[in-house]
Formats: sequence, structure tokens, C-alpha cells
Amino acid sequence: MEASRIALPIGTALDRFIKNNQDQFQYASGELSQLLRDIALASKVVNREVNKAGLIDIMGPMGSQNSGGEQQQKLDVLANIRFTRALTKGGEACALISEETESFVDLNNDGNYVIAIDPLDGSSNIDVNVSIGTIFSIYRRKSPVGQPIQDQDILQTGDEQVAAGYILYGSSTMLVYTTGHGVNGFTYESTLGEYVLSHPDMTIPADGRIYSVNEGLSNSFSESVKTYLTYCKDNNYTARYIGSLVADFHRNLLKGGIYIYPATAKDKMGKLRLMYECNALAFLAEQAGGRATDGKNRILEIKPKDLHQRTPFFVGSTKMVEKAESFG
Ligand code: AHG
Ligand code: MN
Ligand code: MN
Repeated sequence: MEASRIALPIGTALDRFIKNNQDQFQYASGELSQLLRDIALASKVVNREVNKAGLIDIMGPMGSQNSGGEQQQKLDVLANIRFTRALTKGGEACALISEETESFVDLNNDGNYVIAIDPLDGSSNIDVNVSIGTIFSIYRRKSPVGQPIQDQDILQTGDEQVAAGYILYGSSTMLVYTTGHGVNGFTYESTLGEYVLSHPDMTIPADGRIYSVNEGLSNSFSESVKTYLTYCKDNNYTARYIGSLVADFHRNLLKGGIYIYPATAKDKMGKLRLMYECNALAFLAEQAGGRATDGKNRILEIKPKDLHQRTPFFVGSTKMVEKAESFG
């Protein structure tokens, strides 16, 4: 089946691409297509709002806090509403795990999929016109449909993802996703209102020279991470850190590089969330030929105990991640 598929050309619309590749999906193919369509649709609405930020009153803090006790921005809340609404209407999702809600949200109990989402990643960059993103993971539920959602549906390991991806609201807007058969990137063509294939079969260079880390925190990193950062400087690597995980990841995926958010003295498990930040990007990284660990263990094998669990994160070009780990 795999061999007979015709490679679609650059410019192919996302919908057509999804349909053409449906047979790769081991479950009812229409369901995943619908889910991806729902996510794409919500992202177009968010994209429109992101582009209008500054003109209408959607910038700045909401005055409330999210699950991690961080200040919610108006666009965090708005994006969460847009994705929740699209997934509710689509009908395929039974539960939603989101950075913006403390416990999971019940959607359609007849749905077969659990979605974990960071509706808006890089919130600190919203007000300053710097790239931000959305990150999503899709899991198949384990309990029978119609039953109440259980821990086994919600707390799945990254290896159990059936699809994952991100949307980058950058100098152009892109949707990048995997269903476990490689990684493909689509650019939003706003005059058509469509995502079109622009980056087929994305692979990350095995090695690179870019390191991305919030070095301002380095006094509180472990000795091994500090030593690796010295190694990067001794070898004239280039530092690039946007502070939007999606944007930093995307650049390194295209150019080769490593992104690190390690444990700090304050945050013993780092800052990033396993279920709606790291798992999706780890799945994409591995599918593109890269590597993602917590400094020792594969991210995709970490068994979550909590929806909002944090983990140290080392992701990017395989050789660079292995080198960083070797100082551990
Ligand atoms: P979010 O906006 O979803 O809360 O995520 C912010 C994350 C991530 O995007 C970024 O890489 C990281 O926080 C930046 O943290 P520091 O400011 O501590 O470097
Ligand atoms: Mn985030
Ligand atoms: Mn967020």
C-alpha cells in the first residue's frame, strides 16, 4: 500500500493530502481527517486574531492564572476557546487536556480521541509581534466509547500518540504534523484560506551548530548542562533563543540545532509540560530523524502521573542531543 502512494506535489491542499494518506492510519480514517481538519480550522481563526492583535482589545493579561499558576493572556484564553469549540463541534474528541484548564474537559463521549493542547505557546511574545504557536497531541481512547473517561485514556505515554503537530504563527503561518509516517509542513495561503504543502518529508540535520537555551538562567543549571554550554561556546556554536518553544523548535528542525530547557534550581523538573508541549515535539523530532530526551530518558517513554507534569527537555539534532547527554 505504502509503495503505491503517489507523492503529492508542493502546493497540494492539506485536505487533499490528508485524504491521500488516509490508508496509513490504522483506525477509521475519516476520524483522524476530521480531527486534523478541526484543528486546522481553529488555527485559522486564531491566526486571524493573532494578526489583529494591537488593533482590537485582545493583547495583555487576562487577570487570571492558568493550571501552572502563570498569568493567562487574553489570547491564551481566546485560543483555548477556539480549539475547544472546533473539537466539540467536530465530534471525534472525547476529552481535551489543555494548559489553560486544571482538569481535562469532557467533550463528546462517543468520540474516540483524546487531545492534549497548548493552545498558545510563547505567550510572553504575543504583545511584541514575535512568533507564537499551538502544540497538539492526539491519542486514541482506551476505554469503550460511551463510558466515562478514565485515567488510562488521559495519562497515556507519548509513544501512544497517533498524531501530533504544531501551528507556527510566524512570518508565515505553518502547520506541521505527523501521524507516525514522517513529518510534513504546510504553509497557510491566506488568500485561499488553505494550508498547502510546502515542506514535504521534513528531516532534521543529524548535526548542527545552533543551541537554544535561556542562558540567563544558567547559574541555576546543573554542572553537566553548564559544561555543555561551555563546550558550545568553545566550538563557536551560534546561540538562538526566541522564547517560543514552537518557533525555536521549528528553526532547529529546518537548520539543525538543539533546544534545551533543563532543570533549574527553582524548577527541579524544568518548565515545559510533558503532555502538551514535549510529547508532540518529541514525536515530531523522532519522526524527522532527531532525538528528544529529558537528558537521560526518551521523552516518549515517560509515564505521566499528572496532566500538567513538567520535564526537562533536550530536543533536536541527534548528534547534538547525544553530545549534551554525554556530559550528564
Ligand atoms: P507558554 O507560553 O505556553 O506558557 O509556554 C512558554 C514556554 C515556551 O514557549 C518557551 O520556550 C519557554 O516557556 C520560555 O521560558 P523562559 O522565559 O523561562 O525561557
Ligand atoms: Mn507553551
Ligand atoms: Mn501556552
